[in-house]
Amino acid sequence: MTQWNDSQTQEVSSDITEKSNALPAKYFIEPEIFEMEKEKVFSQYWIYAGHANSISEPGQFFTRNVGNRQLIVVRGHDGEIKAFDNVCAHRGSKMVEDTPMTEPEEANRIRCPYHLWTYDLEGNLQSTPKSFEEASLNPDLDDEDVQEFDCKENGLNDVHVDSIGPLVFVNLADDPMPLSDQAGVMKDRLEALPLGEYEHACRIVSEVECNWKVFASNYSECDHCQANHQDWIKGISLDESELEVNDYHWVLHYTHEEDVEDEMRIHDEHEAQFHYLWPNFTVNMYGTADGYGTYIIDPIDTDRFQLIADYYFRDSDLSEEEREFIRTSRQLQEEDFELVERQWDGLKTGALAQAQLGPNEHTVHKFHRLAQDAYNS
Ligand code: FES
Ligand SMILES: [Fe+2]
Repeated sequence: MTQWNDSQTQEVSSDITEKSNALPAKYFIEPEIFEMEKEKVFSQYWIYAGHANSISEPGQFFTRNVGNRQLIVVRGHDGEIKAFDNVCAHRGSKMVEDTPMTEPEEANRIRCPYHLWTYDLEGNLQSTPKSFEEASLNPDLDDEDVQEFDCKENGLNDVHVDSIGPLVFVNLADDPMPLSDQAGVMKDRLEALPLGEYEHACRIVSEVECNWKVFASNYSECDHCQANHQDWIKGISLDESELEVNDYHWVLHYTHEEDVEDEMRIHDEHEAQFHYLWPNFTVNMYGTADGYGTYIIDPIDTDRFQLIADYYFRDSDLSEEEREFIRTSRQLQEEDFELVERQWDGLKTGALAQAQLGPNEHTVHKFHRLAQDAYNS
C-alpha cells in the first residue's frame, strides 16, 4: 500500500506481492544517503571503470572517480591492466590530473609532482630524489643513518581489477565477491560477442538534477515508453518484451516487429537487449544498429548524478545512419531526464514516504531490494 506517512514505512520486502515492496523515499532524498552509499554500495561492488581498448598500449592510463576515491587505471608493461589510488605514498598528494577514458594519457612511470617520488606501472616505488637518500640538511643525522625505502612496501595502493571482455571493472573492497558472481550470466553473454572489435565512437556526458536511483529505476522498466518515447518505440513490439531478473543483473529484451537486416546488429537474436548491472552500469545492445552502448550512472551527491553514455561502432568514423542512431538515443535520454526530474520534483517534497510497485515492475523491485540489502549490510 502506498504510504504517505514516514512512520509507517517498512524496508523493501523480498516478495514483490507484499505491500511494502519499494525502497522507502527517505533513501532517495535524505541528504546524507550518498555518504552511506559510498561505503555500502560503491566500495563493495564491482564498478565499471572504462574500456580496455582506450588503453591498448603499455603505459596508457585514464582516471576514474568512485565515491571519494580517485583511481588511475593503467596498462602495465606486462600488458595487464591495474588500478591504483591516485594518491602518493609519500605525503598523499594527488599525482596525475583527471584523465577521462576518452582522452587517455601515456607514461612510462607515475611520478608525483610534489617531491618526485616515482613509481613503476606495477605501483612499486622506483626512485626517490636525493633529499630522501641523504641527510645533508639534517644536522642530527649522518647519511649512513638514512634507511632505504623498501620499493614494494612504499608502493601505491592497488585495488582489484577484473574484466568482462573489454569492459574493465574495479572493486574497492578488500575481499570482493568475484566479478563472475556479480555479473552472472551477463558475463557469459557479453563475452560470447566480439565487443572488443568495436571502436569507441562517441561519449555524451549529462548532469541531471535527480537522485541516481531514480534514473536507474526508470532505465529498468519500459512501461513509460509508450507514453514518452514515441520515436524510439517505432517498430518495437512492447507487448512482446520480456524482463529477465538475475541476482545482480537484469535484462530488458525488446522484440522488433520486423526483422532488421542481420548485418545491422552485433548480436544475432532478433531483439534489443538492455542489460543493467547493479549498482550503476548498463550495456545497451541495440536491435537496429551494428554497435553497442554503455551508461554509467554516477552519483555526484544525493540530489544529482552524471550520466556518461558511450557508443561503440565498427569504425570510430560514424556513418550518417550511425549519427542518426545516436541522435535518437540522445533524444531518448533527454525524454528520460524530463521524466526523472519530474519524478524527483515530486519525491523530494517528502509527501510520498514509500511507493507501491506493480507486479511487472520486478526489475525495479530488484534494484530497490539490492539497495536495501546493501544498506542493511
Ligand atoms: S607527496 Fe608525492 S612525492 Fe611527496
Ligand atoms: Fe525511458
